[in-house]
Amino acid sequence: MTKRLSRSGLPVKRKKQVNGVIMGNSKFSRRLIFFVSILILVTGCTGIATPAFTAEPPTAVVTEPAVMPKPVTTEIEVQPGAEGAGDSLYPNLGNGGYDVQHYTLDLTVHDVATSALSGNTIIEARATQNLSSFNLDFVGFEITSLTVNGQPGEFERTRQELTVTPIRPLAEGESFTVEVQYGGSPGEMDSMAIQIQTGWITFDGGSFVLSEPDGAASFYPVNDHPLDKATYTFRVTVPEPFEVGANGILTETIEGEGTTTFVFDANDPMASYLATINIDEFDIETSQSENGVPIRNYFPTGSPEEMRRHFERQGEMIDHFSELFGAYPFEVYGALVIDFEFGAALETQTLSIFSKAMIDGGAEGSESVVAHELAHQWFGDSVSLADWSDIWLNESFATYSQALWAEHTQGRAALDEWVKGVYGFVLENRESMSPPGEPPANRLFNAGVYYWGALALHALRLEMGDEAFFEILKTYHERFAEGNARTADFIGVAEEVSGKELSAFFDSWLYSEDLAPIPGLGLEAN
Ligand code: TRP
Ligand code: ZN
Repeated sequence: MTKRLSRSGLPVKRKKQVNGVIMGNSKFSRRLIFFVSILILVTGCTGIATPAFTAEPPTAVVTEPAVMPKPVTTEIEVQPGAEGAGDSLYPNLGNGGYDVQHYTLDLTVHDVATSALSGNTIIEARATQNLSSFNLDFVGFEITSLTVNGQPGEFERTRQELTVTPIRPLAEGESFTVEVQYGGSPGEMDSMAIQIQTGWITFDGGSFVLSEPDGAASFYPVNDHPLDKATYTFRVTVPEPFEVGANGILTETIEGEGTTTFVFDANDPMASYLATINIDEFDIETSQSENGVPIRNYFPTGSPEEMRRHFERQGEMIDHFSELFGAYPFEVYGALVIDFEFGAALETQTLSIFSKAMIDGGAEGSESVVAHELAHQWFGDSVSLADWSDIWLNESFATYSQALWAEHTQGRAALDEWVKGVYGFVLENRESMSPPGEPPANRLFNAGVYYWGALALHALRLEMGDEAFFEILKTYHERFAEGNARTADFIGVAEEVSGKELSAFFDSWLYSEDLAPIPGLGLEAN
């Protein structure tokens, strides 16, 4: 998907570079550089050059023109695509050299108890450089067939890297299709970032998918970095009586012999970690927000009314956040509750998923989590990270949105109480947190990127005044919707809208080891 890349580079951070830049020269020397002759046939009448990659000279001969232009043979360089997307924390995530437009995941689950499945993933992409080979991220399974543009491709697997060498190189700008067929059961992923199992997870009674930041490769071959967003089609076949809940809109349900195929289309660009497929038996409840955003919630069959009640105000939340941040960015929303306790929730695009444990924290606590995942649809899903080190752009915004919901429902005093409480919490637990702008790779989701960063947003609001602050949020969302943003982009918008120079402010809130004061509320560290 064409990326709306940041206008400015990375913010200047007091930060050690992790392993340098993946695409840097050190790797260059290890790479084979291929030179392939290409024949540029200059067509006599139009003068349009038609480059064609071929390993051998083409055999077709143009016989007609009286004056035959001499074929020009040029050497052009083709290289392997990078094995990473250039992320500063996770250099191996994602890949370089191409841009995916669309994934079609056709999965047939033979046995829900083991998640034994046959998969066929079709990737429609465009080369962004001349490619002798390219990588996908993919873990586990046995690959039974792999083609590029319908022709068998060679492939090699090392850890999560699947290296594909097409029969002929791909030219920069060329569209191509990769089809990978595979079978087996998804294995357990060990996340580099978080102490929680990610990827496709099988539990007693069903399965679910949570992939932030590095689980997507456990069930489909993918360019696994949010920089390469794409649209998706899911065709998932399950034995009766199971059902499937996935991102986007259910467009078809096909009855087979003892099976049902569920087809979902996710029509807005989506980061790979947000793709989710959940299998269980569900009660589906549909409604819509007052302003007309369709909602469908998936609850495990027989789940009690008290649990469903936590989601009752989602419509109101959608409309309220739409007012604060700009119109809800997708065509549908909803929640899916997983009948398994894993103590987390994830903002999977258009269909956030919740473990039961996340919504049994009493009415208020549960509603707050519901607000958090919803707010991520704007911040994280619609506007996605360009680098995982900027995770505060997701988590602090979603966390502060919990406070905004409290303010909306209980008034400004409730917001102030929330901020004071969180300030105390951060002070007390400072040792277990990183400053919001510099999370370590192995504790990406530490409390600093949630709470400390949420305080930064409130401090910004007090510094700017409400009008400018919400104008900043709206402008930031509008400008980077469907694309990616970096911390510097947010700072840029904040400075542009407020007319203030804010680098010292953001330095003190995002990169300093000390918690900055919030004078407006009389809060300071000592
Ligand atoms: N982004 C999630 C949240 O809203 C937290 C999270 C990160 C997560 N990685 C995860 C949850 C993996 C479940 C699984 O807070
Ligand atoms: Zn979150």
